[in-house]
Amino acid sequence: MGEKFLVTINEKEVEASPDQTILEVARENGIYIPTLCYYRGTTNVGACRVCVVEVENARSLVASCAMPVSPGMVIKTDTDRVKEARKLVVELLWASGDHNCLTCEKNGNCELQDLIYLMEIEEPRFKIESPGYEKERTNSMIERDLNKCILCGRCVRACNEIQVNEVLDFSMRGSRTRVGPAFDTDYIDSECFFCGECVDACPVGAITFKQARFAGRPWELEKVRTTCTYCGVGCQLDLNVHDGKIVKVTGNREYGQPNFGSLCVKGRFGMDFVDSPERLKTPLIRKDGELKEASWEEAHAFITDKLTAIKEEYGPDSIAGFSSARCTNEENYLFQKFMRAVVGTNNVDHCARL
Ligand code: FES
Repeated sequence: MGEKFLVTINEKEVEASPDQTILEVARENGIYIPTLCYYRGTTNVGACRVCVVEVENARSLVASCAMPVSPGMVIKTDTDRVKEARKLVVELLWASGDHNCLTCEKNGNCELQDLIYLMEIEEPRFKIESPGYEKERTNSMIERDLNKCILCGRCVRACNEIQVNEVLDFSMRGSRTRVGPAFDTDYIDSECFFCGECVDACPVGAITFKQARFAGRPWELEKVRTTCTYCGVGCQLDLNVHDGKIVKVTGNREYGQPNFGSLCVKGRFGMDFVDSPERLKTPLIRKDGELKEASWEEAHAFITDKLTAIKEEYGPDSIAGFSSARCTNEENYLFQKFMRAVVGTNNVDHCARL
């Protein structure tokens, strides 16, 4: 991080460091610059050009997300030239895809839609020509509609640089350029792990959660922050809830550690157990060969009687306890304490150790 220096943005002097881009310095100082392909924590590729700004003595407009600041730089983010260039980019993106918000799952949560509205574009100056790709609906978790893809590459970088799964990349050339797994296969036939990182990264409706389709509009969903129950890592996630039902699970990069918004396939898609009719809601005790529902008091009394009888007859080391990575650290601590202090044995283990 070298020594700080001054740059001028919109006629105001601000501090910057040599490892920062123009975009980062602007955002740090509350100056809005629109972005589409920029995805924090991944390589700045400067692909969409929606973040262009004017830099004094530069030959052309520069992509602020990819341009490092230098001492004395003079930057303008809101001139007519800048605004026209950004608007042209957004119009071209609109015209090159099937951005039909009426049926799009991302309506209300789409970064392209937001920019069109912000720039007050009634309709693009160019003829809308959708590429005519077939929608990919061959798996039960992720739906892809490449007609809505703006080729920002956020999904590619999320897959390769954040999850390091290296499944997605660009293929073909020119107007037929598209994103997908090798050999243009569907996700289900590729090496995809279904972590869903690409869905969270997609700024438009090209990659969406299939189970969330028609299950609630973005503004109807209540986001409930919670800790994933699948393992001991403690990943933070948002349950998107509509009418008391979990519609989808999204990562939140603002929560930071331990997962910085990333999730695995279980945490992302394995939430249907919450409403499963097969879910155990009460303890079960086997009576006459059949499991019967019981109260917690009955279950505790049953366990106490059985453990006491076994301990008296065969000694404490005849009992072993096996805990779970799905319990919290505190629960696992209490469990080993119970085995050692109450039962009197060190026979205690944990599934994560196997
Ligand atoms: Fe900078 Fe796309 S956000 S070029």
